[in-house]
Amino acid sequence: MARRKLVYEGKAKILYEGPEPGTLVQYFKDDATAFNAQKKDVIEGKGVLNNRMSEFFMAGLAAVGVPTHFIRRLNMREQLIRSVEIIPLEVVVRNVAAGSLAKRLGLTEGEALPRPIVEFYLKDDKLGDPLVAEEHILAFGWAQQQDLDDMVSLALRVNDFLSGCMMAVGIKLVDFKIEIGRIWQDDFMRLILADEISPDSCRLWDIETGKKLDKDVFREDLGSLSEAYTEVARRLGVLPANSGPAVRPHLVN
Ligand code: TMP
Repeated sequence: MARRKLVYEGKAKILYEGPEPGTLVQYFKDDATAFNAQKKDVIEGKGVLNNRMSEFFMAGLAAVGVPTHFIRRLNMREQLIRSVEIIPLEVVVRNVAAGSLAKRLGLTEGEALPRPIVEFYLKDDKLGDPLVAEEHILAFGWAQQQDLDDMVSLALRVNDFLSGCMMAVGIKLVDFKIEIGRIWQDDFMRLILADEISPDSCRLWDIETGKKLDKDVFREDLGSLSEAYTEVARRLGVLPANSGPAVRPHLVN
């Protein structure tokens, strides 16, 4: 079989040229990184779980009218997506104080925020993805005012949907990060959700116990990341209730 053309390799995913123009194949790796890749490991089965969970969220979002890059899942580790021009900003939505916000503003982790807060970080590994203000975004032309308005409203719709999904399975959505891309159709540009939504890019706490079920388990050495992600997937119903941990991918259908 001819090798596919590699388009981009990131820390957790690889993009290959897709079968038709305007499409890409997104491959989910097992690699886990934190603190701008200063901490690294391979978590067997993580890519399989994230592929399934991202499919679950993106398909659910599409069903409630949020445009996404997801077309269909191809196999255990790959999905077909629309090719977009990624806006070089990470959009973070926060419902509860944690992580860098708690540190920056001296808040207690777990403190509810007065309302959801949307922040922008510049996607630049060399600079460690710094927090940026709308002023910087507009002045340097990373996005226009209309884009920013659309990004905030898209991010808040994703927050409503994801919070509901998680609440229904006993999980608190503390915060999450999304990436947004541009597509052009008949001379019109629109913004759609891109990248992935998975426990790699969210903070998820068990409502009853406060147990962390996201990448903080890896960042803070709290136990098995694979077990935490399997738990989230099982609760969401994307894995059969009695399947084993994802370290045995043949059990994951
Ligand atoms: P933070 O509190 O470290 O700024 O993270 C906010 C949210 O963004 C959290 O859900 C984790 C997610 N995130 C990523 O997806 N990628 C990153 O590189 C960082 C720093 C955070």
